[in-house]
Formats: sequence, C-alpha cells, structure tokens
Amino acid sequence: MLLLGIDVGTGGTRAIVINQQGEVLASASADHAAFASPQTGWAEQEPQDWWRACGEAVRTVLSSPHIRAAEICGVGLSGQMHGAILLDERYAVVRPALLWCDQRTDAQCRAITEKIGQQRLIELTCNPALTGFTLPKLLWVRDTEPEMWQTVRSVLLPKDYVRFKLTGERATDVTDASGTLMFDVIKRQWSQAMLDAAELDERLLPKVFESSDITGYISAEGAAMTGLQPGTPVVAGAGDQAAGAVGLGIVRPGTVSATIGTSGVVFAATDKPALDRLGRVHTFCHAMPERWHVMGVTQAAGLSLRWFRDHFGAGVDDGRDAYERLSEEAAKVATGADFVLWTPYLMGERTPHLDPYVRASLVGLTAHHSRAHIIRAILEGVAFSLRDTFEIFAEMKVPVETVRLGGGGARSALWRQIQADVYNQTVELVEAEEGAAYGAALLAGVGCQLWPTVEAACDAVVRVQTRVAANADAVAVLNYQYQAFQALYGALKEVMAMAKRQHSD
Ligand code: XUL
Repeated sequence: MLLLGIDVGTGGTRAIVINQQGEVLASASADHAAFASPQTGWAEQEPQDWWRACGEAVRTVLSSPHIRAAEICGVGLSGQMHGAILLDERYAVVRPALLWCDQRTDAQCRAITEKIGQQRLIELTCNPALTGFTLPKLLWVRDTEPEMWQTVRSVLLPKDYVRFKLTGERATDVTDASGTLMFDVIKRQWSQAMLDAAELDERLLPKVFESSDITGYISAEGAAMTGLQPGTPVVAGAGDQAAGAVGLGIVRPGTVSATIGTSGVVFAATDKPALDRLGRVHTFCHAMPERWHVMGVTQAAGLSLRWFRDHFGAGVDDGRDAYERLSEEAAKVATGADFVLWTPYLMGERTPHLDPYVRASLVGLTAHHSRAHIIRAILEGVAFSLRDTFEIFAEMKVPVETVRLGGGGARSALWRQIQADVYNQTVELVEAEEGAAYGAALLAGVGCQLWPTVEAACDAVVRVQTRVAANADAVAVLNYQYQAFQALYGALKEVMAMAKRQHSD
C-alpha cells in the first residue's frame, strides 16, 4: 500500500510517493510561473497553473517503474497558506489569486481591527489582522474591485483549489483555515462572529475537516489529469507549515522546527493554544485533534538568497546546483561576514515587526568586502530573523527541547551550522527531509488507517539522521551581531517613514 503527498508550494508543486515504512519511492516537481507583482508589495498567481503543475508532478511519479496508481491507497494535500482563490457560480476562477506574501491590505486590516477591536479579534481568532491573511484580501477585492466581487460565490485556499479539481469537493482543513482570520482556532470551526463582523456569508467558505479526515475521492476529471484511479480517497491535509512539521515529527510539545523555504518559519507544537499578547507569532490549529501550534514567520528567508541569485548570479556555472555554489562562496569568509548585516525584509516582515512597509537592507559594506561577504550576511541575517521567534517563544515560555531543520536551509551544510550557532542549539536533521509533501502523505496514511494517529505515524517513520552542535566561538560572534541586527529595525522604520513622506508629497 502506497501513499501520495502533494504540496502546492509557491515555486512549484511537488508530489511524492511513500510506502508504509516511510521510504520515498518517487518524487517529482513541476515549477509554477513566478508570482506576478504588478505593484510594490503585491503577489499574485494563476490557480490554473497550480492545477497544471499538479497534473505534471503526479503523472511523473506515477510513471516511475514499480509504482501503479492502483496501489495508492490515499492522497494528502498541503500547500502555501493564506491565499485567496475566488470562484464564480460555475466554479471558474474570477481573478488571479492573492498570495500569502501579498501586502496590499493594510487599510482593510486597520478597518477590521477598528471595527472589532484588537483584543476581541485575538479572542475570536487567536490572531491579529495581518496583511497576509485571507480575510483582509477578500475585503480588499470587495472594496477595490466591487464588480468582480459581485460574481464571487466561493473562496478557497491554494491546496483546496487543487482538491476541488481532484475531487469536485469544496473542503479545507483546520490548520489552513486557521490562517484566514475567519476561523475560531480554539473551537476549530468557522467563526460566525467574524463572518458577521465582516458581513460575509458562510456559504462562501468550504467545509472544514481535521487533517487526516477523508474529504472526498478522485473524480473522473481528477483521474484524467493525474493518472490516479477514480475513487482514491483524498484527506484534508494541512497548510505547508503544519504538514512540514508532521513530516519532521514536530507533533508533541517541546519539539520545534526551523524551516527555510521561500519563507522561514520557526514552529512549535503545543497542547493548548499559546497566545502572544502582541500577536507577533501565529497561533493556529495543528494537524491532529486537540493539538495546536505557534509559529513565527520571516517573509523572505529562502527568497532572500533566490533574489540574490536572480539579480547577481551564482558564479561560474560548473553544472552544480546554484545554491550549492552560493553556499561554497559564502563559506570562504569567516563567521560574521566581517560585520556585513542583512535584514531580509524584501516583502515587509511578519515576526516580530508585523510591518508590511519595512524594506530589506544590507549594512556595513567597505571597499574590501566581496560577494562572498554579502552571501554569508544573507545566510546569517535570515537566521537572525528566525532567532527573533525563538526569543518570543522564550518570553511566552513555549518549551524548546529539540530543534529540527527543514526546507532548503537544511540542505546547505553551511546554513545548518549558521542556524545551530545563531540559535545556540544543537539542530537535528531527519532522514527523509522531504518537506510538506511528506507530512501530507503521512496524513493520508492516518486517513487510510495505516496508522492509528499522526503521532503513531511519525513514531513509525521519522528518524533523526544527524545532529549539528553549536560552535562556542561562532555563538559569541553571532550573539553580538544579533544585537546589531535587532538595532537595525528602528533605523529602517525611520528611513521608511521618510520614503512614505516623499511619496505623499
Ligand atoms: C505561513 C506562510 C508561509 C506560506 C508559504 O504562515 O505564510 O509559510 O504558507 O510557504
């Protein structure tokens, strides 16, 4: 019996097939078109492109020798969170989806906070109104594109659009619903109070399930696109962070992950909703009943390095992966990058600043610095930004016993060591670091009763491969520079205020 996990990411869709021992038998990815940014801070993608990529990735894994579609006993979905996919009465997409990193909704966030009150918002949803969340996006379309909004009959999250195409069912799961600002995270159901305040009809929204519940079965259309057998069950799955955490075995209190993908996330499993009174970290449902998680998000983590690669290149192409070459270049300079600092605010920032307008900065350059210093500063600056979440966890008394690394940031030996040194923690790597698609496949296995619970699934298949200890000398250097990194935000805020005045003059 085999399981299929699908992760509808930002850069592409990935499909993996695993067996009951948790071994990866096949994996494939299909890229998405890069997100469009028609104005500063906007981020849009075409949902149909995710569906195309899903078809390609799943067909590729199913065409591997020794894998037959009939052996797939369940499909699990995961994906980029918070996006708003708007469908009309015939379930056709009415406009490009507004993505998780889109920052255009500041006015809507302010309006909803004013109407409901900051404290009451946190009581109702466990979270403040943030520009990236789904509800402010709906309000933006209603305020700005009223004719378009008139035609909207259904709102879905990214992976749930793919589910709809696979099964014909409108459904979501508790982890992804948590990031909409329309969900009662404590009761694990849509918040009628929020919907009333926003004057939205619950019929716009899909039905919510726990992550390992079956939400539907592969339809004829789904089968034709992917090669899956009609009737194969599809479980609810989870947002990419919760699914990624399941794949890393972050399911019990005390276990924490630090994942560097496009975004960067420090994620802790908790047995009750843990709230930060300032709302700097998100409090969401976890992918198993009666469990929650708290996470801090760096908007442009891997994106910082990709941005550097895209604009300044990855050095001489010797056939190796561009990121491997960048990592090797950065390793040529000593810890601390000779006091070059990078703040990764290319898409504003969530944790801890909750500031959609702040911009990135590269500080401390002299004539003697090289590309290598800048690349190293980017790797260290992203880790500093993730450390901000560890500092908040300490204030909140969220226990941190083990830290596991995930995403592209776990694949570079240098970035692993930098993370151990910046967090001053031994960090663990698991054997199958396959990201959210792996967690989604495990959730499918629980739905198909291969394992009784998500914890049992993780205990059965997630194994630690190596540990990387912090180096005391590097910890001292980076601790000092972290203080300088923290000081930069205040300065940037002043600079941004000047930029804003220039635009408003
Ligand atoms: C989590 C978040 C990102 C996106 C994209 O809150 O916004 O992790 O899901 O990966």
